[in-house]
Amino acid sequence: MTLTTRPRGTNDIGPGQIELWHKLEEKIRQVTSAYGYQELRTPIFEHTELFQRGIGEATDIVEKEMYTFLDKGKRSLTLRPEGTAPVVRAFVEGKLGAGSLPVKLYYYGPMFRYERPQAGRYRQFTQFGFEVFGSQDPLLDVEAIMLPLELYKSCGLSGFEVQINTIGCPACRPSYRQELVEYFEPQVEKLCASCRDRLHRNPMRLLDCKVESCQEVLSGAPQITRHLCEECSEHFAQVVDYLDALGVDYKLNHRLVRGFDYYTKTVFEVTSSELGAQNAIGAGGRYDGLVEELGGKPTPAVGFAVGVERLLLALQGQDKLKAEAAGPHAYLIHFGGSTKRRAAEVAYFLRSQGLWAELDYLDRSIKAQMKAANKLSSKYAMIFGEEELGRNRVILRNMRDGHEQEMDLQELEQLAKIIGECGQ
Ligand code: HAM
Repeated sequence: MTLTTRPRGTNDIGPGQIELWHKLEEKIRQVTSAYGYQELRTPIFEHTELFQRGIGEATDIVEKEMYTFLDKGKRSLTLRPEGTAPVVRAFVEGKLGAGSLPVKLYYYGPMFRYERPQAGRYRQFTQFGFEVFGSQDPLLDVEAIMLPLELYKSCGLSGFEVQINTIGCPACRPSYRQELVEYFEPQVEKLCASCRDRLHRNPMRLLDCKVESCQEVLSGAPQITRHLCEECSEHFAQVVDYLDALGVDYKLNHRLVRGFDYYTKTVFEVTSSELGAQNAIGAGGRYDGLVEELGGKPTPAVGFAVGVERLLLALQGQDKLKAEAAGPHAYLIHFGGSTKRRAAEVAYFLRSQGLWAELDYLDRSIKAQMKAANKLSSKYAMIFGEEELGRNRVILRNMRDGHEQEMDLQELEQLAKIIGECGQ
């Protein structure tokens, strides 16, 4: 560790990249408003118990990946590893369900998980997520898939795949768990250490194990279908019906189970062919029991979260969502002394009109200032020569076509208008 190295699994996002983030954030605002979502900002840290209860004690996130610390008042706090439990906490605490339903909320911000960093997997990463509360309607499960698809498409992304499954509810799961344990137990020696460890605690999680040597056993594992209660079965049939009716492409994946205890019924994940091992660009599902689990009135809910870094990686891989380099409206070239003061005054005026005005702060030669204007892709250069200033005029040079004209400094509004009309 040194003073000039950032912590493992974190990123600095600066010029050259941040423009893409801004573009994506703009798209997120567009798509969330089209679907009627409002933003909710929750704290970066929460009481540890929220995640233990919400996500589940026996999950990888809670067991191994949380950044948990005691504050000076000896309270156990945790940097949020995900956004769903905090949004549910805020929904209950703020009585957000008191008005008309459904309530649609979205969030955007950093999440923290102590995972092994690799391409597309970080310890601090950004999620755009959304949650809708107050309805069991299968159409909302489908909309929770369509909203992120709309976002991906509006960024120009192709080559993604939607996978869906149902994992039933607390009524149908016990008999399925039992069947899974009975299936796996005689073959336990063929399973990896982590599968063996989970076999009795959470047998459904074995289904999404990626270890090569487990695949043969896993491929023959029983499916949940015949254990589903009538309600879960009917719900899933309707989800599939709506997806078909709305022309959404998807793949049924009986082994999609997800690493959170809160899910009920439908779960989904979107993967991108552009990415390597960490190819999920978003995932979500229904969680009808979580609001009650966290102390609220029974309230069904469904949601989704997009991994922003992964989405940007996939977009960059396809050369999509490029940010054109924006340049100043005008670069003000001066000769020092009184010409610099006059240039500073004009720069101040142009900026007050919302125009990007740059000038030299390094007392460079005129040639070097012209070069700087070019390098920044400035649309105009304004040359504050002493002779012209004596007549209260300035030379305005269009950097695209080289055309030059003298402008009257009495008429700054007119000048700002010409410069502003060039766009950026
Ligand atoms: P999740 O599958 O854990 O779900 O995360 C959602 C997305 O966040 C993933 O598909 C991935 O794109 C991104 N992501 C997760 N971990 C990392 C990481 N270490 N580095 C980079 N990106 C990552 C949830 O978090 C649920 N709360 C989703 C949800 C919302 N379910 C219902 N509502």
